[in-house]
Amino acid sequence: MAFSFQLQKKCLHTQARVGTWSTPHGLVETPRFMPVGTLATVKGLTPAQLETTGAQMILANTYHLHLQPGETIIEAAGGLHEFMGWNGPILTDSGGFQVFSLSELRKIREIGVTFRSPRDGRIIELTPERSIHIQNALGADVIMAFDECPPGNADYDTVAAATDRTYRWLERCIKAHQRPHDQALFGIVQGGIYPKLRSDAVSALIPLDLPGYAIGGVSVGEEPALVRDIVKLTTPLLPVSKPRYLMGVGTYKEMVMAIASGIDLFDCVIPTRFGRHGTALVAGERWNLKNAQFREDFTPLDPECPCYTCQTFSRAYLNHLVRSQEMLGYILLSLHNVTELVRFTQRIREAILKDRFTQEFGHWL
Ligand code: GUN
Ligand code: ZN
Repeated sequence: MAFSFQLQKKCLHTQARVGTWSTPHGLVETPRFMPVGTLATVKGLTPAQLETTGAQMILANTYHLHLQPGETIIEAAGGLHEFMGWNGPILTDSGGFQVFSLSELRKIREIGVTFRSPRDGRIIELTPERSIHIQNALGADVIMAFDECPPGNADYDTVAAATDRTYRWLERCIKAHQRPHDQALFGIVQGGIYPKLRSDAVSALIPLDLPGYAIGGVSVGEEPALVRDIVKLTTPLLPVSKPRYLMGVGTYKEMVMAIASGIDLFDCVIPTRFGRHGTALVAGERWNLKNAQFREDFTPLDPECPCYTCQTFSRAYLNHLVRSQEMLGYILLSLHNVTELVRFTQRIREAILKDRFTQEFGHWL
């Protein structure tokens, strides 16, 4: 069996759980944060540095890699792992979400989506079959169904239509999938902020017995409290024995709330995006390292953090690098930020194992 998900522990007070997930490229200990490597690079970090953050599985994007360099080149290189020099597990998102959020002139039809390439103006068509074909060529361990993610403020009928279409597209993805033996295809639950649409979507997915499930369509402009309620209601409906992934979520509070509802995996661009903008995630806060308060602060960024940045450099040095727009500053902050979010989920995992999740992390709930 290329994939197996073992549940190790359940929290006594919440739905939180600890699992060990075996994939063709190694183990993922859940709950765990996955850094985003959109274009086959977690921006600013070498795979060797990435490994020191504790990251186990990382993400890449079908949409971006199809536009540049194209899946043919990556396949010729021997697949994504070989191409980018990352030997751990990789997940690719299907491209649908990126088309909706990044492209102009997009048209959604039953057959799929057409859009104008932001690179060269070409009209490109992505269908469920095409997305799976590309993801089969990229060769990630986990591939995502091609879905339709409506905006957070969409009305019930619009979301219902997108959710039904996502199901029909999933059936086409399953048929098109050529590598079920070594690539796990995850289904995505849509349904927006509407509890009935979410629970209907899950009921439809369960009989398909997929190797994992994701909750999509959250953090797309709706109220944070609604996100929590939707995740709380949807997650417990998913099969216990399969990994559960909440797409695009990666703030401290949202992750604690989602883990308490039974989510295992997260991804978010926050740590690297913030790093590139001179912002550090420290002790649950966001610090702008340009700030004058750090000019003569010779203490480590976070004395508790085991990352190379915190073990080696001072806040004053980071302040200097960021003010001078030196690329090392952004790299060191990205390294710290990724370590920080991965370590946050690792600490939660340890706490669940010791029956201390609510004591240690309950204040985030
Ligand atoms: N990333 C964040 N949200 C989503 C979603 O709803 N669908 C997909 N495919 N990717 C996402
Ligand atoms: Zn650090």
